[in-house]
Amino acid sequence: MSDAGELDALLHEDRRFPPPGVFTGQANCNDPEIYDRAAGDPEAYWSGWASELDWFEPWHTVLDWKPPHAKWFVGGKINVAHNCLDRHVEAGRGDRTALIWEGEPGDTRTFSYAELHREVSQFSNALRGLGVEKGDRVTIYLPMIPEAAVAMLACTRIGAIHSVVFGGFSPDSLADRNNDAESKVLITADGGWRRGSVVPLKANADVALEQSPTVTNVVVVARGGDLTDHTPVTMKEGRDHWYHDLMAESSSDCPAVQMDAEDTLFILYTSGTTGKPKGVVHTTGGYLTQTYATTKTVFDLKDDDVYWCTADVGWITGHSYIVYGPLANCAQVVMYEGAPDTPDRGRFWQLCEKYGVTIFYTAPTAIRAFMRWGEEWPGKADLSSLRLLGTVGEPINPEAWMWYHEVIGGERCPIVDTWWQTETGAIMISPLPGLTVTKPGTATRALPGIEAAIRDEAGNDTAAGYLAITTPWPSMLRTVWGDEERFKETYWSKWRNVYFPGDGAKVDEDGYLWILGRVDDVLNVAGHRIGTMEVESALVDHPSVVESAVVGKAHEIKGESIAAFVTLKEDIDGSDELMSELRNHVGMKIGAIAKPEMVVFTAELPKTRSGKIMRRLLRDIAEGRTIGDTTTLADPAVVKKLQAMHEGDEG
Ligand code: PRX
Repeated sequence: MSDAGELDALLHEDRRFPPPGVFTGQANCNDPEIYDRAAGDPEAYWSGWASELDWFEPWHTVLDWKPPHAKWFVGGKINVAHNCLDRHVEAGRGDRTALIWEGEPGDTRTFSYAELHREVSQFSNALRGLGVEKGDRVTIYLPMIPEAAVAMLACTRIGAIHSVVFGGFSPDSLADRNNDAESKVLITADGGWRRGSVVPLKANADVALEQSPTVTNVVVVARGGDLTDHTPVTMKEGRDHWYHDLMAESSSDCPAVQMDAEDTLFILYTSGTTGKPKGVVHTTGGYLTQTYATTKTVFDLKDDDVYWCTADVGWITGHSYIVYGPLANCAQVVMYEGAPDTPDRGRFWQLCEKYGVTIFYTAPTAIRAFMRWGEEWPGKADLSSLRLLGTVGEPINPEAWMWYHEVIGGERCPIVDTWWQTETGAIMISPLPGLTVTKPGTATRALPGIEAAIRDEAGNDTAAGYLAITTPWPSMLRTVWGDEERFKETYWSKWRNVYFPGDGAKVDEDGYLWILGRVDDVLNVAGHRIGTMEVESALVDHPSVVESAVVGKAHEIKGESIAAFVTLKEDIDGSDELMSELRNHVGMKIGAIAKPEMVVFTAELPKTRSGKIMRRLLRDIAEGRTIGDTTTLADPAVVKKLQAMHEGDEG
């Protein structure tokens, strides 16, 4: 969380940006009454959106709310792939561009809605051929290539539950997720390009597969489309199949399965406060309704828009705002495989110019990196096609907001700062670009049909405290896969029947919400959620380590970086080599995103008399701040030693 001084400054932000008149005039949502109307009858509001989708059978009840369990559109039958593809093809829009993909090396592929429909149907049949049935779990471990979207949609078409695992995760992380979900099939690729080199996904998957007994079939996409240009891989006879071989044998006739609105659509693992990530479960009808509606309202999506969200499909942003929300809206979606600085720091802006991107959605961490790289890079591209900008994943500092507004948006594009989570499934708090007067640094207010509040520990309204979502919403998580207790404990035990997202927040004089960051032991590193416990478990897994404590340290670009305090076995001395070995060990156990930036060796960790590690103190030390209250410490001398050591390091 930011410190008090910074907060006060934030809350006195007096720059205000009303939506430009020309924008409001054409906006999908420009009637301010929408908020009151939705609040007056949220079920009518959401069922209005749901009825814009194709249902095989209508629902009989909009909402069945037995806290903490919500069922939306009860009795309705629907299929997500049908709504993202068939519906548009049947409406005569098959020739319209669905996906415009560019690989990092500059290769491109595009799919019309008809082509994507064919590819997805064919792959659905291929999965069926491998024995995948409704309700089975399929892990998707792919780079950012069109087949990632195809695989997701193919699962939804036949009612299989996908679990997408970010391609940057390690074999151990992949195996944990395969095992927790008991996945039957894994879909991966030979490799994918990232910053000029190939990430060997199949090789990583092979290591994971040794510890994934439930996975009996593996599909391997040749990143280059065929075997003329692929990363060498080992194929295990009887288990591993090339995607293109399966496709060649599969028919493209695959009617979409009628799913119950409450059937599980996917599982997505996210970090929590224990060492074990939790499988967030989303269901079908409500999820599609809210991603569809928010894409249309928050991004003001129109037929002639070219929409680009820079997230990876391995995160919820990629699920909801690259694949499901935009395709349900028949959008023209740009998808890019690689890094923003390859071959140079202007890549994103060249892509915007090349494809005439009109709506651009990225993370504050990326914006801060662009700021540091300088205006010359966006300055080289024609960004006049842009008309709306979005951010997600972490609080955006007003300075970065202003830069985004001026340098990328040319002062004409509204910015939507969208707050939501893996668990919420879709955007919850955000400006509506045709209506909301924005202020740099605040996600403003809850969207129509959503009720957010700030509560204290006891559940009373307060101006500064915990963010709370007080009523059910269609795309809410339904449970944690295989762990109902954890679902109740994590989200529903703080207050009665009110959802606890785990964020701190404040409200200002305009009623705008300022999200301050996580209040639990979850870090937000470059917009990625990482549990401190996960990193700690990875560290103590190393033979030299006895104990560790991990905290977040403010970072100019990433928002937070990881600082690890490590106690070594008695006969082992801390050295620079060991430091990098530990960092790599975490990389190997979890993935490169979880590598600690700073490792401090310490003979002891500061603990209370009851044995609780005082993370607040460690954070103070990591950030070089004056140490707060140490009176509850079992041994106050530990902190002095640590501080002296850390200052020594910095010097
Ligand atoms: O702390 C909040 C932060 O990201 C967390 C959710 O992370 P994840 O489930 O990985 O989903 C990220 C993409 C939706 C939240 O608990 N967060 C997300 N968006 C914002 C944000 N913090 C401040 N402002 C935002 N716009």
